Amino acid sequence: MTKHEFGIEKPKNLQEEWPGQYKIFSWLEYVVNIPYPIFIITTYKANGKTNANLWSWGFFAGEENGFYSLIALTDTTHTYENIKRTKEWCINIPSLDFKEECFKTIEHNQIDDDEIAQAGFTKEPAICVHAPRIKECPISLECKFEWEKSLLKNSFQKIICGKIVHFGVDEKVVNLDQKERIEQLKIMYNFRSQLNPLTGEVTSGGISIIDKPTFSN
Ligand SMILES: Cc1cc2nc3c(=O)[nH]c(=O)nc-3n(C[C@H](O)[C@H](O)[C@H](O)COP(=O)(O)O)c2cc1C
Repeated sequence: MTKHEFGIEKPKNLQEEWPGQYKIFSWLEYVVNIPYPIFIITTYKANGKTNANLWSWGFFAGEENGFYSLIALTDTTHTYENIKRTKEWCINIPSLDFKEECFKTIEHNQIDDDEIAQAGFTKEPAICVHAPRIKECPISLECKFEWEKSLLKNSFQKIICGKIVHFGVDEKVVNLDQKERIEQLKIMYNFRSQLNPLTGEVTSGGISIIDKPTFSN
């Protein structure tokens, strides 16, 4: 394999798809374009209403003493404000069957909105944290704040690390083997639009699932 090697300097005359795109996101995100799993971060607002944030910038890491969620969160979101205040949140992994409801959480984003219900989901209480969970999401991870760090100096992106203190998994998938589980869960992945750095051409992205899992030893 021969690789085309790229520097990180943004090509001149790159056209944004929407104003401010390459300020909010790195242009490289659209070139490298690795799919991220989609999740919904749920928290309580100061007024007790539920907050739901469709997000996909984050991952998980752990060792013997714990499994941790790391999310890269924009500090202007309500979620960031809520996590700073309550120090607790849930990561809910939705299925493709609820794609429409997931995107409705973006529309219902006012302070008085009960975002889980207004998006068409059902709120369920968490077991160990003060944060709501989404009943229709087959995986819910309950998280407690550990630490925060700016992505870089003066960045509006904050990396938030939370210890997973409890989790719930749809009882219909708990006993399934890996292949059946993937087929049943239909976890969504966020594919950004694809930017060709040589031509500046953009092809649109979208949501995708793993529809033909193959495993081999
Ligand atoms: C696949 C995907 C698509 C998104 N599309 C939008 C969008 O069109 N507009 C937007 O403001 N945020 C979009 N977001 C980001 C968040 O969902 C949004 O900022 C969120 O509603 C902020 O919630 P909060 O302020 O309650 O924390 C998207 C996120 C993902 C993962």
